[in-house]
Parts: sequence; structure tokens; C-alpha cells
Amino acid sequence: MDQLLSALRAAAETTRLRILALLSKGELTVGELVSILDQSQPRVSRHLKLMCDAGLLARFQEGTQVFYRLEDEGVGANLNASLVPLLPEQDMNFLHDLRALAGIRQDRFEKAQGYFRENAQSWDEIRSLHVSEEQVETALLEMQGRQKFNRMLDIGTGTGRMLDLFAPYASQAVGIDISREMLSVARGNLAKKDLTNCQVRMGDMYKLGVEPESQDLILFHQVMHFADDPSKAVAEAAKALSVGGALLIVDFAPHAEEFMRSEHAHRRLGFAEDEIIHLGASHGLDCSAVKHLDGGKLRVTIWQFKKTA
Ligand SMILES: C[S@@+](CC[C@H](N)C(=O)[O-])C[C@H]1O[C@@H](n2cnc3c(N)ncnc32)[C@H](O)[C@@H]1O
Repeated sequence: MDQLLSALRAAAETTRLRILALLSKGELTVGELVSILDQSQPRVSRHLKLMCDAGLLARFQEGTQVFYRLEDEGVGANLNASLVPLLPEQDMNFLHDLRALAGIRQDRFEKAQGYFRENAQSWDEIRSLHVSEEQVETALLEMQGRQKFNRMLDIGTGTGRMLDLFAPYASQAVGIDISREMLSVARGNLAKKDLTNCQVRMGDMYKLGVEPESQDLILFHQVMHFADDPSKAVAEAAKALSVGGALLIVDFAPHAEEFMRSEHAHRRLGFAEDEIIHLGASHGLDCSAVKHLDGGKLRVTIWQFKKTA
């Protein structure tokens, strides 16, 4: 009862309802909220603190930036789910905020795309060596059976492409990446496509920071070849996977393109089918399917694991 009362009190104020409406469209930094709401930073920060304390919002720091998002667990999450649909969309304040938010998103997207453009050449060089991404993505959807599920974690999300691919099937999808620039690109992509069930955050494949057995689908899409310690990465993923959940690893089969190591920071030049199968097994995962996709210098392999106990 106390928790519900304090959450209700925290929501019952015009600026705080505006904040709820804005964050229902995706996570934002304090600076972005200050600029949209056109109020002083101390004032906005006070509102945010109160809403976090009451369990309506979650706060997380990424480098020098502090992000806020709607809490997705507990009393606050349930209250948010009831309140957000009741917010009057034609209210003058809300209309102003949504317009300002659209402007900020456009700016962010253009900046991030600038970064991506600078790096795109090296990505294209690798892409030209294997089957089309479309073929890999179709294979992934087929292996997963295009079924609805609850939570998904995309490890090393990069541009967020895997979130986009699985968003129609997931209730909630989170992408993590250690690169702030890539997260910025991913955020721009998610906002542009209005994928409100997807989020990205800074995170490390060796320390996922999610509840044990909380994820129904986990992906490593073209990430494992960067890993210093693939076993530790799979161990973390296995811990985070729910019983009945699936882990998908997509990477290259063993190859001899040494320039991928010298020029693209790959640590491993692909993985043998058995190596990954044993890796999964050593962390209690059963390999349920393996698919090889040929069509270029590099063979792409998909491993699907299930957690059965
Ligand atoms: C080649 S990109 C693949 C991106 C995405 N999965 C895709 O296929 O489009 C590899 C990504 O892994 C991220 N990465 C590398 N090491 C990581 C780590 N230890 N934890 C989380 N992400 C990592 C990189 O920042 C990069 O965005």
C-alpha cells in the first residue's frame, strides 16, 4: 500500500506526467529532458529523483551521461502501464513535448549516422565476403520459429539490427554494447523505427548485469570473434537464459583472412562447429541446430542452443 501511494503521489504533478509521457517513447538523458521541458536542470533533476525513488523511473549512467527510462518491474511499472494510456495526447504541453522530442531524435540520428558513415567502409569490406545479411536473418527467424516470447538480450548489439529483426516477436528486447558510438547509432535506429519495446544500454558480454534465468532469447551476432574469453561470455549468457530459452550464436566458420585480425580487431578467425557445440555443452546448454550458410569467401555458421534444465 505504501509503495503504491508514494508512486501515485510522485506521478500526480504536471511536469512529472509530461516526463512519463516522454519516457514512454524511449529513454532520454537529463540534458534532453531539460531542453524539451524548458525548465532548469535542478528542477528537472528533482522531479526525476522523486520519480526514481517512487519506483516509476530507472536511472543509469553511461560515461558522462545519465539516462532515464520507465521502470519495467514492480509497482511503478504496473502504474506506468495504467497511466500512460490515460495521458491526454492533445494537451498543449504534450504536443509541444512530442514536437521537441522529434527534433532531438532527428539531430541525434544525423550525428550517429555521421559516425557510422565513417566506419561503414570497413563493415562493407567484411560484408562482401559472405552471404547476404538478409539470408542470415531469414535463417535466424526460421530457426526460432517466428514465435512470440517475452525477453530478449542482444549481446554486442552494434547498430541494433538484431533488435529490429526480433522486435515483432519480443515483449521486451535489450541490446548491450561496450561502444558508446555504436549505442548511439543503435538508439537512432530504434527511435527512427519507433521500436518502443527495444532498448540499448552500455554493457559487457562478461558481466551482463541481468537477472539469472530472465531471458528467453540471447544472441551473439558476429560478436564472438572479438571475445578474449568466449567461454566466459557463453557462461554469462547461459546463466541469464531462462529454462526453455534459446541462445543463438552467429559467427564465421574457421578461415584464413588474417587481415580481419590486423585490420578489423578480430581476435579469432572463425570457429569450428564442434568448438562452439562443446562450449555450450560445458555450460549446460544443448545444441539444438547448426546451420551453415555458404556464398562467398567466408562461411557463416549459426548455432542454436536450448537450456533444458
Ligand atoms: C561486428 S559488430 C556486430 C554488431 C551486431 N551484433 C550486428 O551483427 O550487426 C560487434 C559488436 O560487438 C561489440 N563488442 C565487442 N566487445 C564487446 C564486449 N566485451 N561486450 C559487449 N559488446 C562488445 C562491438 O562494440 C560491436 O558493436
